[in-house]
Amino acid sequence: LAEIDVDVSQITEGQSITAKWRGKPVFIRQRTAKEVEEAKAVALTALKDPIARNANLPSDAPATDENRAAKSKEAWLVMIGVCTHLGCIPLGESGPYNGWFCPCHGSIYDTAGRIRQGPAPENMAIPLFKFTSDTNIRIG
Ligand code: FES
Repeated sequence: LAEIDVDVSQITEGQSITAKWRGKPVFIRQRTAKEVEEAKAVALTALKDPIARNANLPSDAPATDENRAAKSKEAWLVMIGVCTHLGCIPLGESGPYNGWFCPCHGSIYDTAGRIRQGPAPENMAIPLFKFTSDTNIRIG
């Protein structure tokens, strides 16, 4: 299936689900205000990968939190849950940035899914998606 619709009405603040799209896990998280603030506070110069890696934006868009989050819904993060090192599935709410931690070789992602430490070269990828209503996300 090229597109999937995901009902996100049950995801409250601080919760996530993992959807499946084109055989890959997609993490959908409604971040807490604290998680958003932590991600926003990071200078672009502190990032290992300064590119947003967001398929909804130009390929050179910078990796600000705004460019990682869903458009006009900054709490929401939708990204392909595959480590950009060798493809393991990172664990959520883990690691020193309280983002994601990849148990395979120790890559550490922040609350915007940006690579901060470890061998992974890129931020986790954000697929084409949009909110079609307040409670539905269409991926693809
Ligand atoms: Fe994630 Fe190697 S696959 S750190």
